[in-house]
Amino acid sequence: MAKRKQTVIIDGRKVASELKETIKKEIAEMIDGGQDSPHLAAVLVGNDPASETYVASKEKAAHAVGMISSTYRYPADITEKELLEVVDYLNSDEEIDGYIVQLPLPDHIDENKIIHHINPAKDVDGFTPENVGKMVLGQPAFLSATPYGIMELLKYYKIPVAGKHCVVVGRSNIVGRPMSILLSQKEDGANATVTLCHSATKNLEEITRSADILIAAIGKAQFIKADMVKEGAVVIDVGIHRLKDATRKSGYHLVGDVDFKEVMKKTSFITPVPGGVGPMTIAMLLKNTLLAHKNEIYP
Ligand code: GUN
Repeated sequence: MAKRKQTVIIDGRKVASELKETIKKEIAEMIDGGQDSPHLAAVLVGNDPASETYVASKEKAAHAVGMISSTYRYPADITEKELLEVVDYLNSDEEIDGYIVQLPLPDHIDENKIIHHINPAKDVDGFTPENVGKMVLGQPAFLSATPYGIMELLKYYKIPVAGKHCVVVGRSNIVGRPMSILLSQKEDGANATVTLCHSATKNLEEITRSADILIAAIGKAQFIKADMVKEGAVVIDVGIHRLKDATRKSGYHLVGDVDFKEVMKKTSFITPVPGGVGPMTIAMLLKNTLLAHKNEIYP
């Protein structure tokens, strides 16, 4: 029997770092030419530890490429009206090119109301109806950073997408749904046949087993098992979960939505957790901020 080809473990850190290097060079040239640096702002409400970590990483990455970064922190009991005023302020401050409102927000705040208030030209998360609508129509738009990063990974590793069956598991507004739309677009690097699976999907295993490219964005630790994956498939893992681990100093280790150790025995390409999709999300946010600074999406 022919020996199966070795799995390629996709190195998201490397791809993200190359992209950040390109962004850094462009910013250095801007500064040399007497222009301002791009400015990314983040709004952080409350003290959810995961949100704190994400915002700190975004800030660090922005500084590392030469961007200005500022974080606006508010207590968890900020009112919706006050937060809308913060958004108004960020919309009008000409020094800020783009900003994000870190999610989730406390329960008493209507997340949609806040997001819909963001100026689409500063919406570097790509969450506003205007950017989502434009993305669906295939027009220039800020793209949600995680699906945008996954499209870049597929391109970087020259993974054929056109005509392939891509199965996306999870229909969140941030990842699953935009992912399904980007993969099906009539564009180079896309043109896939897409199935979007979710909690009401019947025969999920049968569908995932038919995937040439499987995107796991379910939010459940190690949900995708080896028997759910076709031999030779490409598997992209969006999940990130802490599993208790007494052997580690931190007391935990990170896993994704995929049972990596078993699934990797069947795949042609797979993303690890950590070091796969995660680093790309931040790199694409920086890319969006640079595009905002240059008024490329909204001239
Ligand atoms: N919460 C989890 N992921 C994200 C993200 O990409 N952007 C924002 N604003 N909040 C998040």
